[in-house]
Amino acid sequence: MNHSPSAAQLDQKYLWHPFTQMRDWMKSKPIVLERGKGAHLWNNAGQKYIDANSSIWTNLHGHNHPKINRAIRTQLDKVSHVSALGFANSPAAKLGERLIRLAKPRTRFPKTEPRLAKVFYSDDGSTATEVAIKLAYEHARRTGRARKPRFLSVDAGYHGDTIGAVSAGHIDMFHKAYSGMLFKTDKVASPYCYRCPFNKAKPQRADAREYRKCNMECVEQVEKKFESRRKRGSDYAAFIVEPGVQGPAGLIAQPKGWLARVGAIARAHGTQIIADEVMTGLGRASAGYFASHAEKIQPDYLCIAKGLTGGYLPMAATLTTQEVFDSFLGEYDEFKTFFHGHSFTGNPLGAAASLASLDLLESGDTNQKRSCLAANLKLYSKPLWKLDMVGDIRQSGGVLAVELVEDWKTRKPFDLPKQVGIRVCNAMARRGVLTRPIGNVIVIMPPFCTTQPQVKKIFNTLRDSIKEVT
Ligand SMILES: Cc1ncc(COP(=O)(O)O)c(C=O)c1O
Repeated sequence: MNHSPSAAQLDQKYLWHPFTQMRDWMKSKPIVLERGKGAHLWNNAGQKYIDANSSIWTNLHGHNHPKINRAIRTQLDKVSHVSALGFANSPAAKLGERLIRLAKPRTRFPKTEPRLAKVFYSDDGSTATEVAIKLAYEHARRTGRARKPRFLSVDAGYHGDTIGAVSAGHIDMFHKAYSGMLFKTDKVASPYCYRCPFNKAKPQRADAREYRKCNMECVEQVEKKFESRRKRGSDYAAFIVEPGVQGPAGLIAQPKGWLARVGAIARAHGTQIIADEVMTGLGRASAGYFASHAEKIQPDYLCIAKGLTGGYLPMAATLTTQEVFDSFLGEYDEFKTFFHGHSFTGNPLGAAASLASLDLLESGDTNQKRSCLAANLKLYSKPLWKLDMVGDIRQSGGVLAVELVEDWKTRKPFDLPKQVGIRVCNAMARRGVLTRPIGNVIVIMPPFCTTQPQVKKIFNTLRDSIKEVT
């Protein structure tokens, strides 16, 4: 008889999971995921699931994709890792060129928009935004734009868990405990149409962005924020924003035109823009490859992570301009170097996976899959409007949020201690669909390869689970 402890037992004995109340975690046996193929995952008992949140928003083309696997294996047979401190490697160099090309707008943008020219690698979304924040801070100081550079961000924004990223974030539940460690940043209102105080429309059975009644007062507030900063004798160093959708805030999808207008205000004040496309980028949340481009914004810093390697390995990139790069050039003893980096910066395995993933991403086949997925999400989510507990369904490309409420007519949220989102997701898991909620918001963000029957199953499962729980 085999008496060695199971993976679930070892996990519960030794591990500490991210963003998880471990007391709750210990109450039930965890799902141990063992293998995957396409949009499917299997646990160690052979039960099959649909990965409806792309393994925390990372996986683009499905699990176990032969092309990405092959690229990793080929690189593995050469070398797994070499240092970017003092050395170059071919996959990282090729990926740099590829990312700059990918980040070029496909349509005509105003000439005033910056051109991205340089790539700085890191490991994940937090480090990608941390790099952007540090670069923007120092660039603003060196160019004399601001003596004490300050950042503006969006309420409920989330940019990661490192200290700079947390400082720029505004989700109290995650960030308040650490306020003593953080630097101060200003914030503007989040364009959360469903719960916006300026939206005078009564609830309807549609995405709140479509029926909102307001004059985009949220944008006026942004203008005021910039003006009041200027009156104090300085402009912001940078405005940091999640273009298109504020992910961890609860997939708050921005109304069309918001980012274009807010971006124009930032530009008029000489403020740089950091686009945190960690979740939205690489075709996840827009028809193009980057959600900022849908609003004709080319940021000064473009942060890419989660899906960069297709979601296979941890790797991230911060793209920036020649101008920013040049402000760090100097004689050795001027010490203008960007003193920042990580042991695994520019990892060749990650870069090889990324190149294979980008080949897939830019293929006609994937473009078709992405538009089919977006159409299927729209089609099969529609029947959910019949449920009284569904308050808002908001979709941006391949990203869809279902916000659960006590009653759609009042928009009254469920109290968080009721754990409605968690319970619905647990009920979905029992039925073979995996996702993770954000409070009362159910996230549906499957890989691009998810088929029509699979999307149908996701939403049937969600409907049955909502009924079961509420
Ligand atoms: C918009 C955004 N920025 C940054 C991050 C942080 O990324 P990571 O968890 O890879 O550090 C996340 C993670 O969810 C995110 O959604």
